[in-house]
Amino acid sequence: MSFDRQIKIAPSILSADFANFGAEIEAIEAQGADWVHVDVMDGHFVPNLTFGPPAVAAFRKHVKTVMDVHLMIAPVDPYIDAFANAGADILTAHLEAGPHIHRTLQAIRGAGMKAGVALNPGTPAEAVRDLLDLTDLICVMTVNPGFGGQSFIDMTAKVKTLRMMIGDRPVHIEIDGGVDPKTAPLVAKAGADVLVAGSAVFRGGSVAQPEIYGQNIRAIRDAAQGVYV
Ligand code: DX5
Ligand code: ZN
Repeated sequence: MSFDRQIKIAPSILSADFANFGAEIEAIEAQGADWVHVDVMDGHFVPNLTFGPPAVAAFRKHVKTVMDVHLMIAPVDPYIDAFANAGADILTAHLEAGPHIHRTLQAIRGAGMKAGVALNPGTPAEAVRDLLDLTDLICVMTVNPGFGGQSFIDMTAKVKTLRMMIGDRPVHIEIDGGVDPKTAPLVAKAGADVLVAGSAVFRGGSVAQPEIYGQNIRAIRDAAQGVYV
């Protein structure tokens, strides 16, 4: 995985057909997805349940790009090896999930993955100041995590602060929640490079009509890159 700051669209398969993950992943990748975003929820850190390591390992067989696994679980550390074995390329833990995020990030890298740290809307940019050399990605939540389809909370000022703090370190800024062609330009201009989108990618399409996924991905990318169509 090489580093760049080009806009990357990472569809969240939380909005896919849960009975057809393999074909859904192949469809979004064929239609231009750069990464595949996998939302793991435990019904404890967030009020919703999704899937665990065996399901993620099954998704892996269909992912040709980058599998970006967003853990919304607490605790994280006992599961790091299981997600490494499941084939996660990037494993992101929430800063709010436990008292020892520094140790968690070290353990994620130690298990051979890129390490991400996610910030809830109420957590300030300053909270990651001492973690910048231990992380490969900072995920700025623009909704309170737990569900797809919520409305965007403006975190533009936080993204700008993070972009300055990061400087020339190879650290991605990812935005997660309520990203669509209207909100994408705000965060892209502020310095984000990875845009997660669930409902705005899967809306209106299906594996039988994958070209809609392609149109949706293009609309977000074009808006983020400043091409208004
Ligand atoms: C929210 C998840 C998101 C979510 C995004 O807890 O982390 O990845 O699926 O969905 P949309 O794009 O619909 O807000
Ligand atoms: Zn997510």
